Amino acid sequence: MLSIRFEQAKSLKAKPEDDKLGFGKYFTDYMFMMNYTAGKGWYDPRIVPYGPLVLDPACVVFHYAQEMFEGLKAYRVEKTGQIQLFRPDKNIERLNRTNKRMCIPQMPPEDVLQAIKELVRVERDWVPHSVGTSLYIRPFIIATDVHLGVHPSKNYLFCIILSPVGSYYAAGINPVKIIVESEYVRAVRGGTGFAKVGGNYAASLIGQEKAEELGYAQVLWLDGIEHKYIDEVGAMNVFFVINQEVVTPTLEKGNILPGVTRASCIDMLRSKGYTVSERKVSIDEVVEAAHTGTPNEAFGSGTAAVISPIGELNVNGEKIIINKNEIGPISQMLYDNLTGIQWGRIPDTFHWIEPVC
Ligand code: COI
Repeated sequence: MLSIRFEQAKSLKAKPEDDKLGFGKYFTDYMFMMNYTAGKGWYDPRIVPYGPLVLDPACVVFHYAQEMFEGLKAYRVEKTGQIQLFRPDKNIERLNRTNKRMCIPQMPPEDVLQAIKELVRVERDWVPHSVGTSLYIRPFIIATDVHLGVHPSKNYLFCIILSPVGSYYAAGINPVKIIVESEYVRAVRGGTGFAKVGGNYAASLIGQEKAEELGYAQVLWLDGIEHKYIDEVGAMNVFFVINQEVVTPTLEKGNILPGVTRASCIDMLRSKGYTVSERKVSIDEVVEAAHTGTPNEAFGSGTAAVISPIGELNVNGEKIIINKNEIGPISQMLYDNLTGIQWGRIPDTFHWIEPVC
């Protein structure tokens, strides 16, 4: 069990209105920090006033991107005002899988959970009240060795920051337009696609910029080898409903992020009797299905985005309209059930909820 010291802020910030939140624009009064040094382990866990980090410009993270992050949310139960997390154990397992890939030391899962819960407890008044809002939790680790040799760092900083959020997309749960990226790739087999690292997102920015210039919300990434199989949408995993089968790209090749919302969608769908296949899904299969009247539905899933129906898919200039650009019944069912559990509106029969306070 961590013994977390607390440093009081001199003044507290004014909290934003719930309807102005957007995503990731505001940050709370405090953050959690803890250091690591090889031979000593993780030490000095502390909750301190939120503020800038002072780092040497030669820190490994700035040059070789040895870092990782996670994303989860704290929700306020509408009736009781209680605050709860959704499957934090899954984020913490993924954190350690990412750390392994990035040569960052493992963290005791119970310490990470304790740190998250204590910070959220301190910042409980920042968990917004309005429907669809939550407190986004962003743990991250950076390599802080001061040297320019390319080696794993011996020193790290673990931080957790918090941001009250509304919808990730301006469109909310309304369908988004997605464009298939035909030139660049986000991840390759054997690379870091399965890990939650900034480099994956940095590699995706050029496609994202192109997409936005053309009026699309995000990019659908294809595999890095054949440029044929669907990977993910960068900030979301992706599902298609084709001929009564719900399909989502398999995680087997290690180039897709194993999303907690993705896994929860699969469990939820199977519990309701849907056939869900985790398999290779080629972009040709989706185009062909579109020409014969399906896919009936497509949607993205993610912590930030929750469930985001895809209304239009642009494949090499061909605009495929899915489900008349409307929210489909499966997307709606998943959205209602996941958010129902997260905000405590429906019973948590899956035991996904971790109460905080
Ligand atoms: C999340 O859904 O938590 C993510 O990390 C996506 C994101 C990069 C905003």
